[in-house]
Amino acid sequence: MKLTLNASNKPLNSEIIIENEALRHLPGFIKNRSKTVLIADETVYRHWEGTLKSFLPKDSGVLLVRGGDQHKNLSTYEGLLKEMLGAGCDRKTLVISLGGGVISDLAGFVASSYMRGVDWVAVPTTLASQTDAAIGGKTGVNLDGYKNMVGSFWPPLAVLIDPQFLKTLDKRELVSGLGEIIKMGFAYDKNILKLVDKLDPENLLGEKLDQVSAQSATAKVDIVNQDMHESGQRKLLNFGHTIGHAVEALSLEAKNPLLHGEAVAIGMVAETKLAELEGVCEPGLTQTVTATLNRFMLPAQVSGVNPEEVSKKILADKKTRNKRTLWTLPTGVGQGIYNHEAKPENVQKAIKFIVES
Ligand SMILES: NC(=O)c1ccc[n+]([C@@H]2O[C@H](COP(=O)([O-])OP(=O)(O)OC[C@H]3O[C@@H](n4cnc5c(N)ncnc54)[C@H](O)[C@@H]3O)[C@@H](O)[C@H]2O)c1
Ligand SMILES: [Zn+2]
Repeated sequence: MKLTLNASNKPLNSEIIIENEALRHLPGFIKNRSKTVLIADETVYRHWEGTLKSFLPKDSGVLLVRGGDQHKNLSTYEGLLKEMLGAGCDRKTLVISLGGGVISDLAGFVASSYMRGVDWVAVPTTLASQTDAAIGGKTGVNLDGYKNMVGSFWPPLAVLIDPQFLKTLDKRELVSGLGEIIKMGFAYDKNILKLVDKLDPENLLGEKLDQVSAQSATAKVDIVNQDMHESGQRKLLNFGHTIGHAVEALSLEAKNPLLHGEAVAIGMVAETKLAELEGVCEPGLTQTVTATLNRFMLPAQVSGVNPEEVSKKILADKKTRNKRTLWTLPTGVGQGIYNHEAKPENVQKAIKFIVES
C-alpha cells in the first residue's frame, strides 16, 4: 500500500509505503548520496542488524541511541550532530531513522537542522510510530521535562513501514501504540474503532492488526494533507494529549514512567469527561472510551500524582497561550472540536476524575 503526504515546505512529497519487506525500497533513496547515516534505536538495531545490513551500503555510519522518551532531549540531539560532523557528513548525506517515535522525532530533527537540512527516510518499528509518529513531518525533542518543546516540520522523503518489525516489540509497547490508534478512532475516524473491535487482545499481531494499522496511517495522512502545520483539522489529533502529556511528564519525574500511549489513554478519559461536563458531547461517551481502553488493559486512571501538579503542567503546554488552554474535545465517536475554551472548574473536575486516590 502506498500513500502520499504533500510536504508543503519541501520540493518533494513524502511517500508512505506499507508492506512486508518495505526496506527493499531503501537503495532507491540511497543512490547518489555522499554518505548514509543510520540513526537507530540500539535495541531495534540489535534485533534487526542482519536484515538491515543487506540494504545499507558497507560504509554507512551507524549511530545508536537508547530508546525511551527520557533520551529524546537536546543532549542526545547535540551528540548526534557532532557525530555526523566528525564523520564528514555533508548536505548530500541521507539520514535513515530506525526505531519508534523517539528515534523518528530525534533523527528527523537532526536531519532538519544539520547544515540547515538534509534528506531523511524513516523506518518506524513500533505500532505508535508506524501509524502516527513517523507520519506527518513533525520532529523534535523534549526540553526541561516539557514534551516536544523544540522542533520543526521536516517530512522524510519516505516512511517505510514493515509490520514484521512488530514481532520483536514487547506487548506493553504494542498495546501503548494501540492507545494512539484508539485516539485516532475517537477523534477522527470511527471505522478505525470498528477494526479495533475485531482484534483479539490476547493475540494482537497478524492480519487484523495490519488492517487497523493501515486504516490509522491512512487517516493520519488524510489529516496532515489537509493541515500540515496544525492550524486547524490536525489539532483533532491532540485529543487526549493535553492532560495526557501532563501525566506523562509527571510520571517521568516520579521515576515511574507511563508509556506515551498509556498517558494518552488516561488523557482521553479525562478530556472526554471534560467534553461531557462542558456539554459538547453525548452523555456516556466517557464510558464508551473507557470500555474500549479496558478491553486492551490500557489505563483509564493514574495514581501517585497531585491534581494541582497536573494543572501546572497544562499551563506550560503548547496548547496554552496567555494562560488560556485551547482544548481538543470529542463531540461523538469519530468526531471532535478544537480550540475550545473550557470552564476552569470543569477542567479541575476532569483532572480529579482520572487521579486515583
Ligand atoms: N512526531 C509526531 O507526530 C509524533 C506523534 C506521536 C508520538 N510522537 C512521539 O513518539 C514517541 C513515542 O514513540 P514510541 O511509542 O514509538 O516509543 P519509543 O521510540 O521510545 O519506542 C518504545 C520502546 O520500544 C523499543 N522498540 C522500538 N521498536 C522495537 C522493535 N521493533 N522491537 C523491539 N523493541 C523495539 C524501543 O527501544 C523503546 O524502548 C514520543 O516521544 C512521542 O512524543 C511523535
Ligand atoms: Zn501522541
